[in-house]
Amino acid sequence: MINIIDKIKYYTRKKGIPVGLVGVNGWGKKYLLRLAKSKRFNLKVCYDINKKSLDKAVQLVRCKKAKNYLDLLKNFGIQAVFIILPNFLHKKFILEALKFKKAVFVEKPLVNTLPELKEIEKNIKKNQDFLMVGHSFRHNDFSKKIKKIIQDNKIGKICFFEFSRSIKRNYHDWRKNRKKCPGGCFMQLGIHLIDVLHFFFNSKIIDSKSMRRNIINNNVDVFQALLKLENGIQGYLSTSFVNKDNTSINIYGERGRIIFEQNTLFLETKKQKKRIRFKKTDIIKKEIFDFFNYLKKNKKPKTDFFESSKIVKSMNKILHS
Ligand SMILES: NC(=O)c1ccc[n+]([C@@H]2O[C@H](COP(=O)([O-])OP(=O)(O)OC[C@H]3O[C@@H](n4cnc5c(N)ncnc54)[C@H](O)[C@@H]3O)[C@@H](O)[C@H]2O)c1
Repeated sequence: MINIIDKIKYYTRKKGIPVGLVGVNGWGKKYLLRLAKSKRFNLKVCYDINKKSLDKAVQLVRCKKAKNYLDLLKNFGIQAVFIILPNFLHKKFILEALKFKKAVFVEKPLVNTLPELKEIEKNIKKNQDFLMVGHSFRHNDFSKKIKKIIQDNKIGKICFFEFSRSIKRNYHDWRKNRKKCPGGCFMQLGIHLIDVLHFFFNSKIIDSKSMRRNIINNNVDVFQALLKLENGIQGYLSTSFVNKDNTSINIYGERGRIIFEQNTLFLETKKQKKRIRFKKTDIIKKEIFDFFNYLKKNKKPKTDFFESSKIVKSMNKILHS
C-alpha cells in the first residue's frame, strides 16, 4: 500500500503537492495568494460558504471550485487541506479531513475548548496523521532574535515579563459571539502571546489569575492575566480590541532587559541600550514552507498537533482562572 509520504514524494516530483483551501476571505485570502504562487503546492480547489467570494477567488487564481467541503475532500485528488475558518468550525473540518486521510493545516487556535481538543486527540493517529497549526508569532525574525538573546544569557536570569497585543477591530462578527469565540480578544490575540511565551521560556503555566472586562456594545474587549511558570518566571499578558495595532514585549533579567515596542527591538544592559536589527518576515510563506517540509521530509513542524495542544491548554487555563 502506498503511504502518504510516498504519494507526496510522487506529487512533488510532478508539480507540487495537490491541496485544497477552505475559507478564502479574511486571513484565508493571504493563503489563497501564497498557495497560488507556490511551486511546492498545487492549489487545485477552493471552497467557501460565501458563493460570491468563492467565485472571485477561483477566478483570481484559476483553480477549481468545490460544491461543498465533502466534494473538496473527495473529488479533486488533494493530499492536504488548508482550513482558514472561524475557530468554532475547526474541530468539525479537521475531523472530516482526517477521516479522508488528508493532511491538515489549520489556522490558530487549533480549537477553542478542551472538550474539542479531546475529541481531536481521540481521532488523531500518532505518526500517521499530519496536522499543523498556523502559529505565526514564533516565525517572526524578531521572536527568533529574542529567543537567541535569552539563550545566550545576555540579560542573565529572567525575573519577569510583560507582553501585550492590541488591535482596533470592528467587533461585529463571530469574534463577539461567546459561543463561537468564548475568549474574545484573548482567544484571538492572546494566543500569539502564549505562542511566544512557550517558545521563549519552554515552561508550563502553573498559576494564573485573569481579569476580563467585555463591553460589546461599545466595541470594547479587554483581557489581562497574571501568570507564574513552572521555572519560577512570572509575568503579565494583556490583550484588547481597542488600540491601533500594537505588540509590546518586555523581558526583565537580572542583568538587562529585552524591549520590543513599535516594531523595534532593543537590548538594554547597565552599559547601553542597543538596537537589534531584524528582518521583516513573510510569516505565511514560512508556515507554508514548514508544512511542506513536514509532508515531504517528515520534518516535525514548530507547531505540530502536540505543541499546539499545549497552547490550547494554556489558553484555557488562563481563561478560566
Ligand atoms: N495568524 C494570524 O495572525 C491570524 C490573523 C487573522 C485570523 N487568523 C485565524 O484565521 C481563521 C479565520 O479568521 P478570519 O479572520 O479570516 O475570519 P473571517 O470571518 O474573516 O473569514 C472566514 C472565511 O470563512 C468562510 N466561512 C465561514 N463559515 C464557513 C463554512 N461553514 N464553510 C466554509 N466557509 C466558511 C467565510 O465566508 C470567510 O470567507 C481564524 O481561525 C483566525 O483565528 C489568524
